[in-house]
Amino acid sequence: MRKIIVLGPAAAFLVGGSMLAMAEIKSLRGDRPLDAPPEPPKKARVISKTGGFGRQWKTQPPLIPHKIDKERISLDENSCLRCHAPDTYKAEKAPMISKTHFTDPNNPSDANLMRGRWFCYQCHVPQVNAKPLVENLFSKTAD
Ligand code: HEC
Ligand code: HEC
Repeated sequence: MRKIIVLGPAAAFLVGGSMLAMAEIKSLRGDRPLDAPPEPPKKARVISKTGGFGRQWKTQPPLIPHKIDKERISLDENSCLRCHAPDTYKAEKAPMISKTHFTDPNNPSDANLMRGRWFCYQCHVPQVNAKPLVENLFSKTAD
């Protein structure tokens, strides 16, 4: 009997405390109940920018100023080369893959692209018109 008297207020405190915590939790899906489907996020649009985005610092991998959703990169296929390879870039009016991406930078040719540079979007990424999740205070560095 005595135990119940002691536990009573403690249990009430615990329940009250966890309810307070529940009210404060704000997950990424908002405070919608679990059985209500969340609102789909707005679809971001890829930004196509004539002339490219420029660089924030000299050795930055330039951002991709066009869509890449139809491009395919696998072990033996790389559709970026359709426009950016040394033998295709002129006809496609695209910038050539940087000379630094070739095993012998003084003699760039499609065949000896360094394997470490094969998966282009390991370093180059397109941009979408999404609202930044956090403010970015980075300012351009001098070259
Ligand atoms: C159909 C041709 C085509 C294909 C395929 C293509 N690109 Fe491009 N890319 C271009 C053109 C044209 C530009 C120049 C756009 C401009 O500056 O107006 C460009 C620009 C770029 C730039 C910017 C270079 C700079 O100095 O600013 C990068 C990086 C790039 N592409 C990467 C890629 C990657 C990675 C892929 C594959 C996922 C790819 N591209 C596929 C045509 C293409
Ligand atoms: C390991 C990172 C990395 C990978 C992978 C990579 N790049 Fe780059 N890329 C860079 C960096 C860094 C630069 C800028 C400095 C330089 O030129 O080396 C660059 C520059 C470029 C440029 C600009 C050239 C110029 O003269 O302005 C093009 C175009 C490009 N890369 C295309 C590609 C394509 C296409 C692929 C895939 C076949 C690719 N890159 C793979 C890092 C990478």
